[in-house]
Amino acid sequence: MTLHIFSPGRVNLIGDHTDYTGGLVLPMAIDRYTEIHGRRTGDVVNLRSVDEPEPVVLPLLVDHPEAVDPAWGRYVAGVVSEMQHPHGFVGEVTTDIPIGSGLSSSAALEVAVALALGFEGTSIELAQLCQRAEQRASGVPCGIMDQLCIAAGVRDHALLIDCGDLSIEPVAIPADAEIVVQHIAHRTLVGSAYADRVRECAQAEQLIGPLRHATFAQARTIDDPVVRARAMHVTSENLRVTQFVAALRSGELRHAGQLMVESHRSLAEHYATSTPAMDAAVERLCATPGVFGARMTGGGFGGCVVALTEPGALSHGWVVRAVDGARIER
Ligand code: GLA
Repeated sequence: MTLHIFSPGRVNLIGDHTDYTGGLVLPMAIDRYTEIHGRRTGDVVNLRSVDEPEPVVLPLLVDHPEAVDPAWGRYVAGVVSEMQHPHGFVGEVTTDIPIGSGLSSSAALEVAVALALGFEGTSIELAQLCQRAEQRASGVPCGIMDQLCIAAGVRDHALLIDCGDLSIEPVAIPADAEIVVQHIAHRTLVGSAYADRVRECAQAEQLIGPLRHATFAQARTIDDPVVRARAMHVTSENLRVTQFVAALRSGELRHAGQLMVESHRSLAEHYATSTPAMDAAVERLCATPGVFGARMTGGGFGGCVVALTEPGALSHGWVVRAVDGARIER
């Protein structure tokens, strides 16, 4: 029997670098997909990708996913390794999620592979398995936002995820708003300062307790200027997510846009995850009629910016729609 798996990318509207301290995020699954076609058979995983010269061929027991060649196979191997005794699978991967752009192409691949190999369980269990797979494959201590959004997406809604207890509340995207993504630069979080940020947050937590429950005022009391700045971002970003959700629900799109710009400034100034090209793009977008606000999205250090606009305000970029999470068709 041939299976067909659809696994969407994601864009984060607000709430970046909060997930790994149990904070709030507001991503949505988008209408760009990684797809796998194929059959469960045999005792190897054999995947071809139209975008890659080398196929991935793996036994069902993989101990070191980080050492697999070709490199794209590491994410596949991470999932195989975490699933322990999955079915064999032969198939093909295609995607229209731009790779290395901060739209979670790797998380979409992991979720697609887990479903292809016969994963059974809840969306949260699927996301947790794929998060572990990503961490082992890439060495990046990522949070759970990307995998959970892709597993649990809801059509026409963003997801308010509390990364502390993993509760999810769908938040409707207003019909008079458009979400537009612009690609700025290719990047990878492997070898980036992402792991430094995770460590700096842990240092802040040793001083003022869990950042999820700490206040901006407490963050400001930290002596070390770098650790202080990181904590100032996280504590203020959690608050902005709540305010943004309230603004979306009451149709105050201008206010929502302002919060996006504040989030971008905080990521640039306190968290140092933006780049001059991303700053310039946000400034350009905000000066365009019909744009309520814009910000970098995802891990940063390159990747994409996201804008909240009136319908039709921008001619450059992808208008993205919120879609349901990953699914399998038989
Ligand atoms: C990457 C990680 C996520 C999250 C974002 C920043 O996308 O995979 O877990 O930390 O960066 O919000």
